[in-house]
Amino acid sequence: MRILLLSHAFNSLTQRLYVELRELGHDVSVEFDVNDVVTLEAVDLFQPDLIIAPFLKRAIPESVWHFHTCLVVHPGIPGDRGPSALDWAVLNNEVNWGVTVLQANAEMDAGDIWASAEFTMREASKGSLYRNEVIDAALRAVLSAIEFYRSGDTHPRALNYADSHVRGKLRPLVKQAHRIIDWQKDNSEAVLRKIRSADGVPGVADKVLDRRLYLYDAHIEKTLTGTAGELIARCGGAICRATLDGAVWIGHLRDKQGVPPIKLPAMHLLGRQLEYLPEITPGPDSGYRDIWYERQGRVGYLHFPFYNGAMGTEQCERLRLAFIDARQQDTRVIVLMGGADYWSNGMHLNLIEAADSAADESWRNINAIDDLALEIINTQSQITVAALQGNTGAGGVFLARAADRVWARRGVVLNPHYKDMGNLYGSEYWSYLLPRYAGHENARRIVQLRLPMGVSEGRELGLIDEIFESETQDFVTAVEQNAEALASSPDYEKSVAQKNRDRQRDEKEKPLQAYRDEELEKMRLNFYGFDPSYHVARYNFVNKIPKSRTPLTIAQHRRTREAVQGAL
Ligand code: COA
Repeated sequence: MRILLLSHAFNSLTQRLYVELRELGHDVSVEFDVNDVVTLEAVDLFQPDLIIAPFLKRAIPESVWHFHTCLVVHPGIPGDRGPSALDWAVLNNEVNWGVTVLQANAEMDAGDIWASAEFTMREASKGSLYRNEVIDAALRAVLSAIEFYRSGDTHPRALNYADSHVRGKLRPLVKQAHRIIDWQKDNSEAVLRKIRSADGVPGVADKVLDRRLYLYDAHIEKTLTGTAGELIARCGGAICRATLDGAVWIGHLRDKQGVPPIKLPAMHLLGRQLEYLPEITPGPDSGYRDIWYERQGRVGYLHFPFYNGAMGTEQCERLRLAFIDARQQDTRVIVLMGGADYWSNGMHLNLIEAADSAADESWRNINAIDDLALEIINTQSQITVAALQGNTGAGGVFLARAADRVWARRGVVLNPHYKDMGNLYGSEYWSYLLPRYAGHENARRIVQLRLPMGVSEGRELGLIDEIFESETQDFVTAVEQNAEALASSPDYEKSVAQKNRDRQRDEKEKPLQAYRDEELEKMRLNFYGFDPSYHVARYNFVNKIPKSRTPLTIAQHRRTREAVQGAL
């Protein structure tokens, strides 16, 4: 089928549908819903069989839905309506939630229901739920709606609140007043829930040191207590605030009036004023942990669930030290677990944007990632595995490929390209790793692509070695079983000896330092050269400047030869 994805942006859900629908053989094109004329033009050009709207911020024009079947993906259970579906689900502590695919008509979210899928809620931020449970449920519901449509039975159920399965209702936009924190009355659980309901956007507005700031990245503190509302400790980039019955950590803040007005680690924004706070060493029950190691038998697991998968210079340095520590343990396998939402999204673009010199900070950051990649590549004493629980993008993909094996959960989306970040050349030894694992032809294809890819394509191209068909929690279990099997394999010693011989051979042919020098020479031009494309692209990305037109890479209906040449 010809399917047009009409979306406000190419966000994670839109990317997942794009990948999965193409893998199923559909002809998929994407148009950003910028204005009625552009949307109409896209429909005219593509002549879709079906329009699917995974992420919209405004109503589809009548001139479109009147003549074409438009299916809207709503992140709520049947009957739920309104722009803050998931925010309310988190705020109201729902136990089960869902996604509904409904037909666009004159009334927002009130169209006929084509399909729905449910999931169990998890103690997590709205963004994390969206990236995991919602996307999985949305895919299930969209696929059943497509089947339903294809079967020719084009009579979906009208929304009827008398139906027993229609449990939702119309709810307004969540405003700051709905989730304002009352530090004198709210316990830790309530504070967490309010912050999580607004994380990633827009954040909960609060007063911190007399400044109006937005709070994100909240975690429970199990040991410390203090006077409700007071700041009582710091740990790495995070601050700890006492509640009625305990305390919570807040990892990130945003100052809307700040320069730049973007999310940053809390201590980055408030640092000097908070140096008096006691610094806590992070542990399982206390502190803000963004890196930890655990060992099970002969396997070591290194977790690094960095917020939004962004890896700043200092985080890369700490992770490198933690990795070297892990390597010194008497284990046979080290699994690099990343985080549940992202494995890694490469350099920390927000910290770079906020630095005195973005070019200098970019240089430091890429070198710190390279130093980490170098340690992973040069590991002689263990087999290393990158276990992709969540999506990974840009330099994160190549950092994962630095491990001997890459295992991924079905459903993970890879974005193995830097070109959209102002034609960034990239480093992380990709010019060694890609030909080594993917072959020269695939390496060339990967660097020229600017598209997200699913794990099947990733495996075909040599970016991934194994795919595990499991949900997030089961994936961790599958990784543990496979890592243990690897550690106890009769071939283990042979594999280690072989990988060390391969590395020595490759080093003789061309030292890693030579690859790094060549990559960094190009990166130096990106950071310090005459062409400002990277700095402009980064500014637009971190400040969330919406795109005014759909990139030709995904808007295939606009891809005439002239248009492609013009864009290059
Ligand atoms: N640095 C800082 N923040 C980052 C980031 C990075 N490298 N990558 C993603 N983020 C943030 C986004 O700003 C967004 O923030 P929000 O919580 O305020 O909304 C959040 O992570 C989610 O990102 P989003 O782009 O909405 O997720 P996605 O799943 O739709 O897209 C990517 C994933 C990887 C395609 C996209 O985030 C991206 O292009 N990131 C930049 C990668 C990059 O160029 N890195 C530098 C070169 S190594």
